[in-house]
Amino acid sequence: MSIRYDATQRIFRLETNHTTYQMQVGPVGHLLHLYYGRPVPDALGYRLLPRDCGFSPNPYDLREHRGWSLDTLPQEYSSADNGDFRCPSLEVRTASGMRGSDLRYVTHEISKGKYALSGLPAAFDRDDTCETLSVTLKDAATGLEAELLYGVFAAEDVIARAVRIKNAGTEPMTLHRVASACLDLPFGSWELLHFHGRHCMERQPERRPLLHGVQTISSNRGASSHQHNPFLMLCAPETTEDTGECIGVMPVYSGGHRTDVELDQSGSVRVVTGISDAGFAWQLSPGETFTAPEVLLSFTPSGLTALSQTFHRFLRRNLCRSKFSQQPRPVLVNSWEAAYFDFDADRILSIARGAKELGADLLVLDDGWFGRRSHDKTSLGDWTPDEGKLPGGLEPLVRAVNDLGLQFGLWIEPEMVSEDSDLYRAHPDWALTVPGRKPAMSRDQLVLDLSRPEVSDWIFETIAGLLRAHNITYIKWDMNRSLTDVFSRALPPERQGETAHRWVLGLYEILERLTAEFPDVLFEGCAGGGGRFDAGMLAYVPQIWCSDNTDPYSRIAIQYGTSFGYPASAVGAHVSASPNHQTGRRTPLSSRAAAAMAGMLGYELDPGKLSEDEKAEIRRQIADYREFAPLIQLGDHYRLGTSAWMFASPERDRALVTVTVPAPEGNPRPLHLRLKGLDPEKYYAISRIRYFGCEIEPAPLQGVYSGAALLYAGLTLPQLYGNLPGAQLLLEQTEAL
Ligand code: DGJ
Repeated sequence: MSIRYDATQRIFRLETNHTTYQMQVGPVGHLLHLYYGRPVPDALGYRLLPRDCGFSPNPYDLREHRGWSLDTLPQEYSSADNGDFRCPSLEVRTASGMRGSDLRYVTHEISKGKYALSGLPAAFDRDDTCETLSVTLKDAATGLEAELLYGVFAAEDVIARAVRIKNAGTEPMTLHRVASACLDLPFGSWELLHFHGRHCMERQPERRPLLHGVQTISSNRGASSHQHNPFLMLCAPETTEDTGECIGVMPVYSGGHRTDVELDQSGSVRVVTGISDAGFAWQLSPGETFTAPEVLLSFTPSGLTALSQTFHRFLRRNLCRSKFSQQPRPVLVNSWEAAYFDFDADRILSIARGAKELGADLLVLDDGWFGRRSHDKTSLGDWTPDEGKLPGGLEPLVRAVNDLGLQFGLWIEPEMVSEDSDLYRAHPDWALTVPGRKPAMSRDQLVLDLSRPEVSDWIFETIAGLLRAHNITYIKWDMNRSLTDVFSRALPPERQGETAHRWVLGLYEILERLTAEFPDVLFEGCAGGGGRFDAGMLAYVPQIWCSDNTDPYSRIAIQYGTSFGYPASAVGAHVSASPNHQTGRRTPLSSRAAAAMAGMLGYELDPGKLSEDEKAEIRRQIADYREFAPLIQLGDHYRLGTSAWMFASPERDRALVTVTVPAPEGNPRPLHLRLKGLDPEKYYAISRIRYFGCEIEPAPLQGVYSGAALLYAGLTLPQLYGNLPGAQLLLEQTEAL
């Protein structure tokens, strides 16, 4: 039993293998948070010591007890305008103008299995061990009911939360904010670790102490965004990679999001996380229910790496439904940086022949194959092959690529439409635009209104038609602009505030239908690189193109930040040409490959432009990668610093260590590394070492070491000189010497 209810004290206890989460129904029915942390056997109701705090009001029925204030008590789901002046989880206004709510306990239910959320991605119970707690709270004045859902994954140390808001009253109401979860941390001091960025430089970690007031992590771009990933961590000031308490908050949502982290007058911290409330207004008629997306929580006392690994395993095993989450991925060659829009069937076939020669599995035809798409100003929406480039359409090309012994993959950007397209000319009302106002343009394209069922049906049928007609085993699903002019021609005025969220629901419905009908197709997400790199997308697609920036210096930093929340199995990572197309920097082929081998490997270059030596080197890289792939995809990831990392097998019998030196110095100090994830009792041989980026060949390194020596004493590497020099070491368990 991972969920228990103590009816005497009205305390709920949620227990995972290494954590305890407790809450209590207060004296007049508010659901109060008690604790989230290491396992404790006691019921922790004694922690709620009422405290008279000036200007913090009391519920009417507790007015004789001035210490009882919602402004100071930790809560499971905060309301507005009820005496709690901290961040609300719920903002509602009824047709008669009533604002706020006062949510009180009505009932609860504990059941086996994991709740599902209609129309939304959610974690699933792979091993039939999950339990669900549903607690219903009600606001008596409006009739609003909030059903708080807790999915307890004991072995995984994850608690999934979501909320259903029901209008059980008699008058219509409008929801202006519906968070997925509120997490109050009444004690302790916490820092915020979040991941900001921009196009070509996504998910840069920033750790800062909390200051009094509210700090907001958000996107109002209609997508989870390059600028602010929805994932964040809270950690104690002393927390390091290997020690210390930390909590991860992982929204399972791909649209605009908002997380407020508030340090209040009492020194307690509140986290309120959910969909963005920018422009949000959801009409809820009597009897209707609104479901807020899921958020995954995890706590560990063992540092940031342990928390990251929990999310890595959980996203791979309990969120991503694609069979590819557990299966080897094809090594691909993508045509984008090889040819951009400038190709015809012969050029693509020559890239495919080159890909075959390199030992790749899959040729991806990127943008430019449809309509009259010889540049990015035209044809999105016209998903019929450009006969000028591809005579006879896709079929002869797919067959020719297959005949070479390669799989065929295709790029699409189905959520978008070009003004210059037959689709837009036929259905201008299918684009998000505001009547009477010229829309904001971005990459010269508009966003289709996915909130309209006929539009999402059309997208599904169009893409399904391509997949039914051709032997396509991979789809790169791109999205190259943010949402603006969020107005749906199909919704009445009072429902326009629903458009952005309905748009995301439309996207999920298309993905749901496509992945159900085509389970053997590997879908890779993309949004101008990593502009929609989130757990919502990862429920449908096992990997996402991590960034348009493939310069290994930048990529190592981007992948480092990404690794805090997301597994390497989710990271699309390619070797591209040098000089790099994003930064202009020249780097050795070997360094580019070492960086890309922290994800799902591909190549983004024209093999025809490679020398014979480079081709031989790539053949060797791909052969190495096939051997390393199970470790990279399914092993435990350890950050050994910002530019060194390793993957260790769960059995602790193999590990792949990669060390890079981004800024080699003259007369360098010894490069010394203490490894992680090994068994101190076992012995390991360095069974392979690949130096890369080195101008001077370093001394060979080999030998057999105890796990204890590698963990506690560490390994000293020879001095490395060059352009992003480094070493890749394969360690394999062996007999003691
Ligand atoms: C943005 C993607 O991130 C690129 O890889 C490429 O597919 C282009 N779009 C194509 O337009």
